[in-house]
Amino acid sequence: MNKKRILSGMRPSGKLHLGNYAGALENWINLQNEYDNFFFVADWHALTTNPSASFHVEQNTIDMVIDWLSAGIKPENPIFIQSKVKEHAELHLLFSNLITTPRLQRNPTLKEQIRDLNSEIVSYGHLGYPVLQAADILLYKANLVPVGEDQAPHVEITRELARKFNSTYDEVFPEPATKLTKFPRLPGLDGKKMGKSNDNYVLMSDDEEQIFSKVRTAITDPQKIRRNDPGHPEICNVFAYHKKFNDKEVLSIEEDCKSGALGCVDCKKNCANKIASFFESHREKRKYYETHLSEVHDIIGNGIEKAKKVAVETMNDVHKAMKMG
Ligand code: TRP
Repeated sequence: MNKKRILSGMRPSGKLHLGNYAGALENWINLQNEYDNFFFVADWHALTTNPSASFHVEQNTIDMVIDWLSAGIKPENPIFIQSKVKEHAELHLLFSNLITTPRLQRNPTLKEQIRDLNSEIVSYGHLGYPVLQAADILLYKANLVPVGEDQAPHVEITRELARKFNSTYDEVFPEPATKLTKFPRLPGLDGKKMGKSNDNYVLMSDDEEQIFSKVRTAITDPQKIRRNDPGHPEICNVFAYHKKFNDKEVLSIEEDCKSGALGCVDCKKNCANKIASFFESHREKRKYYETHLSEVHDIIGNGIEKAKKVAVETMNDVHKAMKMG
């Protein structure tokens, strides 16, 4: 039986943080055996919000792919770079005629990004990046797209574009489904969304000391000032990390925090410890890949080749359907 196909990508942001892991990567790892997978580095996407990101894209790509591999993404999966498969750009161009600008302006994720960027001016590329994303997905005729909630509107646009293409030209594309990550967003140390630009993150590759010095600064329950004050774990960022990385102790921590038996300093130490051991084998594998970089380049090279083959086939179907063979 043919396996269904998953496609997912991430912008090259360098070494990944715990939010990237909980929000996406863990999901990819858990799904990879059940599906036929395509994982890619969305480097053109990185330019849509910051054109000079290009200067760091290559290093960030390698750093990120090493994290994927070290976390357990199997190197047999095609792992590739968007900009090395030019068909993404062609399909993007063709799709751009099948969607209106008001439809793209209605996208809630775009609105949120514009708010975050503090700018009212949106570039043509930024407005259209969900169209590029649709091309990414449909080029591989993916059935399923594992993403966080913020990306769900883009998958909806992808489905609309698949329908529109099929009805305008000929039946080429399946309508992919969204596979939402179950785990809610992991907060940053300060409670905002964990992100590189917020300086509120812990990296998957941080060692125990680095993790502790970061977790120490995390905002907990502001009402728990003294060790014995009763705490409110549900609003504490450190407790959110315990839930994710320390499921064995989470109930007793909740109880002891609430009763005042557990103080924040000890709780943070324990938390840093658990995060460090959760990613222990990850750090080891990372060291391996960092010293065997040519292996990483080979994996990506093979991935590009496999991706390219599928992409060319799909574009043949597209050209035929459009009678532009
Ligand atoms: N837009 C996604 C992000 O910013 C990355 C991405 C690009 C993606 N193309 C994709 C994710 C296709 C899933 C499928 O994180």
